[in-house]
Amino acid sequence: MTPARDFGPHSRHAQLPPRSGERFASPHIVATPKGKVVYTADGRELVMRSIEPGDMPAVQRCFKRLSPQDVRRRFMHAMSELPTPMAQRLCRIDPEWEAAYVLMDETVKPAELRGVGRIFVDEAANSAEFSVLVEREWTRIGLGALLMQQLVDECRRRGLSELWGYVLMENRPMLELCRELGFVAKMVPGEAGTAQISLRL
Ligand SMILES: CC(C)(COP(=O)(O)OP(=O)(O)OC[C@H]1O[C@@H](n2cnc3c(N)ncnc32)[C@H](O)[C@@H]1OP(=O)(O)O)[C@@H](O)C(=O)NCCC(=O)NCCS
Repeated sequence: MTPARDFGPHSRHAQLPPRSGERFASPHIVATPKGKVVYTADGRELVMRSIEPGDMPAVQRCFKRLSPQDVRRRFMHAMSELPTPMAQRLCRIDPEWEAAYVLMDETVKPAELRGVGRIFVDEAANSAEFSVLVEREWTRIGLGALLMQQLVDECRRRGLSELWGYVLMENRPMLELCRELGFVAKMVPGEAGTAQISLRL
C-alpha cells in the first residue's frame, strides 16, 4: 500500500487510499465545524461525523432500505429487522472502546444515513475490529474506501497495532476494497465461508 499522505490536521484534504481503476475520482473533503463535508465525483454531498444517540431513527430507516444480501454481509447473518435495543446500542457508543463515523445526507429532510464505519477496540490484543456499510445506491463512488481510511486513521491515533474484521468469502466488493487498502485475508478455522481480513498498522 502506498504510504498515506499527511496533509496535516487542518488540511482541507483527508488521507485517502490509492484507488485501483480510477473509474471515479476520490471524494473531495472539506473540514467544517459540523464535520467533514464530502463531495463525491458525481456531485453528491454528505457530512462525515461521529455517530450520535440522536441518529437512531436514521439508522433504523437505513436498515429498512438494505437488501437481505447487504444485511447478511454486514451482520454476518440474516435479520429481518433491527431491534430497537440494538439500534440504541449502535448509536450510543463508549468512546473509550468504540468509534463510529456516519455519512449523513443532509440534502433531504429528515437527514438520511448513507454509510457507517465503526471499530470496537480489543485492549488486550491492542487491535480493533471493524465493520462498514454503504447503502447500495451510494456504492462505487469511493465512500467505502473513505470510511475504511477514517477507521485506519482512528486506529493509528489510538496507537493500535492492527485493524481486522470478518468478511464473508462471497463478499467480493469488500474483499476487493480491503485488498486495495493493503489488508491481508486468511481463512477462519471452522468457518468455511468466512475470511478474517487484517491490516498491520
Ligand atoms: C463493501 C462496501 C462497503 C463497498 O463500499 P463502496 O462505497 O462501494 O466502496 P468504494 O466505492 O470505496 O470502492 C472501493 C473499491 O472496492 C472495490 N469494490 C467496491 N464495490 C465493488 C464491486 N461491486 N465489485 C468489485 N469491486 C468492488 C473496488 O476495487 C473499488 O475501487 P474502484 O472503484 O477504484 O475500483 C459496500 O458494498 C457495502 O456496504 N456492502 C454491504 C455491507 C458489507 O459488505 N460490509 C462489509 C463487511 S463489514
